[in-house]
Amino acid sequence: MIDLRSDTVTRPTPAMRKAMAEAEVGDDVWGDDPTVLRLQEMAAAMVGKEAALFVPSGTMGNLSAVLAHCHERGSEVIVGDESHIFQYEADGVSVLGGVGMHTVPTADNGELPLAALSKAVRADDQHCPRTSLVCIESSHNRCGGCALSLEYMRSLKSWADDLGLPVHLDGARVFNAAVALGVDVTAITELVTSVQFCLSKGLGAPVGSIVAGPKPFIARVHRLRKMLGGGMRQVGVLAAPGLLSLTESTKRLQDDHDNALLLAKGLASCPHIDIRTDLVHTNIVIFNLRDSCPLTAKDFIPLLQQHGVLIIPFRGGMRAVTHYDVSTEQCEQALQVMLSLLNEAESHAKHVSKYAMTNGTSLIGPEAKTVKGY
Ligand SMILES: Cc1ncc(COP(=O)(O)O)c(C=O)c1O
Repeated sequence: MIDLRSDTVTRPTPAMRKAMAEAEVGDDVWGDDPTVLRLQEMAAAMVGKEAALFVPSGTMGNLSAVLAHCHERGSEVIVGDESHIFQYEADGVSVLGGVGMHTVPTADNGELPLAALSKAVRADDQHCPRTSLVCIESSHNRCGGCALSLEYMRSLKSWADDLGLPVHLDGARVFNAAVALGVDVTAITELVTSVQFCLSKGLGAPVGSIVAGPKPFIARVHRLRKMLGGGMRQVGVLAAPGLLSLTESTKRLQDDHDNALLLAKGLASCPHIDIRTDLVHTNIVIFNLRDSCPLTAKDFIPLLQQHGVLIIPFRGGMRAVTHYDVSTEQCEQALQVMLSLLNEAESHAKHVSKYAMTNGTSLIGPEAKTVKGY
């Protein structure tokens, strides 16, 4: 199988497995696991923040960060309507923190336009929730992995600073964003108050995320992590591959981006495929089948699986994600499988429609999609 469902399907490298076996551990709830302490120090330094905390998942990282910023119940966080926090994190900030989510429309390139943000900020009035935080995402998962430009992030920072609002970055794949922009990751993270990033996605560690920010903020995140059940004991075994994800995996992300672009450009060459190649900045490729295609995404995904390629349904279309467990050759192979299945479906549909017309029924157009076998 060529597994392009997500960059979370990567398996720990042999070096990571060795590091896990040999990791020095302590009890991290007591703060004496040396490997975790090392990981947190390195992570904070890499993103240029005062402190960092190792948490079990990106979801817990975002949740504890939002709650640490919005410490009053009845606060409101402004988020994009396509953000992971709004779409996929089970509304944890409202359920567990009494924090409302105020959504603004997300632009195609992942930006939250400043005009929309300004409209979303509440008046300082007893009737209103208290606007306490803005969350952004880069690279942006549902916007096809695009990276927010530094220009946009600078304008957002200056807008937020004027209002005294902190900005939290859901940077699950912030190292991918940095590679796409051709900058050190600190060029991105210096423009936000806090950041969450995952060690377990494109960076290939089996588990874990980091929350980084100012020391008093991280102290609040630490307490929240405990409250949420995320205090882990002899967890150096998981911090050890995390260290390698920072020192080694961050260096090879361009390969994944090149493979994603190869896939995206190849898909764009097919007239049945609708894709925004201009938004393929990193390792995520979102695409759909046009109405002209005899297949729908619903038909295409299981058909691909039968031919050894795994992708997932996404935003009404499909998503393929490249990572270190798929080589360039495998991406080329996956592309060929996709293109030839679409070709085959087209010839089949033409054949059937010709047959149907000679028999008095038309199978051109949407009905052709239901042709048996596809
Ligand atoms: C942008 C983004 N943020 C946060 C998360 C959550 O991470 P986790 O699955 O580790 O909870 C994901 C997961 O895919 C993500 O894509």
